[in-house]
Amino acid sequence: MLVLGIETSCDETGIALYSTESGLLSHALYSQVRMHEEYGGVVPELASRDHIRRVLPLTRQVLDQAGLALTDLNAIAYTEGPGLAGALLVGASIATSLGFALQCPVIGVHHLEGHLLAPLLEPAPPDFPFVALLVSGGHTQLMRVDGVGRYVLLGETLDDAAGEAFDKSAKLMGLGYPGGPALAKMAETGRLGRFKLPRPMLRSHDLNFSFSGLKTAVLTATRAQEFDMARRADLAAEVQEAITEVLAAKSLAALQQTGLERLVVAGGVGANARLRARLSLAAPKMGASVYYPKLEFCTDNGAMIAFAGAMRLQHAKEEYGFSVHPRWDLAQLEAP
Ligand code: KG4
Ligand code: ZN
Repeated sequence: MLVLGIETSCDETGIALYSTESGLLSHALYSQVRMHEEYGGVVPELASRDHIRRVLPLTRQVLDQAGLALTDLNAIAYTEGPGLAGALLVGASIATSLGFALQCPVIGVHHLEGHLLAPLLEPAPPDFPFVALLVSGGHTQLMRVDGVGRYVLLGETLDDAAGEAFDKSAKLMGLGYPGGPALAKMAETGRLGRFKLPRPMLRSHDLNFSFSGLKTAVLTATRAQEFDMARRADLAAEVQEAITEVLAAKSLAALQQTGLERLVVAGGVGANARLRARLSLAAPKMGASVYYPKLEFCTDNGAMIAFAGAMRLQHAKEEYGFSVHPRWDLAQLEAP
């Protein structure tokens, strides 16, 4: 079965073709970063309009790459939520129209389920059950994953997401948008130990997170008299250290608490090299293995949506109405 995946939940148009027999056949991504850059963040209306321009040309591109035609498709998967309402509606309406025209089933996919299952696209995927650390721009959650659609929330952020903490700190430091990769780059030349930042909820004895206090500490540091641009790298390194220390500690605690031996890291912040280094060092010491998606499938992409859609083919809708869920709780999903 051949599934087309369409991701339009935020500022990236991702399109991919996944075959249940041969795996991922082709994928393409258009990032709107340049367009939103001058506004310092994503402008929802501009995002929707741009997705409209990109979806069909990228669809043609992935079909050409795979040497296939629209009529070869067996199903179309799109991101149903969570995300920006207008942006989601673009993917949902194009997917549904294509499905109607081709008389093939259409599958609405939960964006976070896409992220969560992305490591299964790798050549040596983890078996179920596993613990998943889901760290994106809007979500920070630890889940117990027993199978597709069988998710138990173990802990989550009480305020800002880890990606948001990266983005907001970067903004305060004048690093622009998107902040995570920019801050991580700057941290490479920074020296640790020159700033003291909190490790929020590190010892809270649960699996929840809180990152909003961190940006206040960063703001205070940037306003200190002795702060100058030369010290931005030191502060960047310290911010990255604080966020990744808490994420790693809680992920290991989740492994301990559940007794599971596999940890999957998914979502944009999963691309962070410091986080990966910490987990890859600490997890084996407790007999656990860590699994990551390829870097390009950590951040938003069409491959994860095509794959999650393929996992839910039996649930594909035969009728061609559609809806989107700008807010959507992952733990409420049911197994296919
Ligand atoms: O999963 P994602 O692409 O989109 C959402 O679903 O939100 O995650 C985007 C988030 C942003 O906050 C971005 O700054 C962060 O992931 N991010 C990073 C890195 N790459 C992306 N944060 C830290 N280090 C990175 N290398
Ligand atoms: Zn995402």
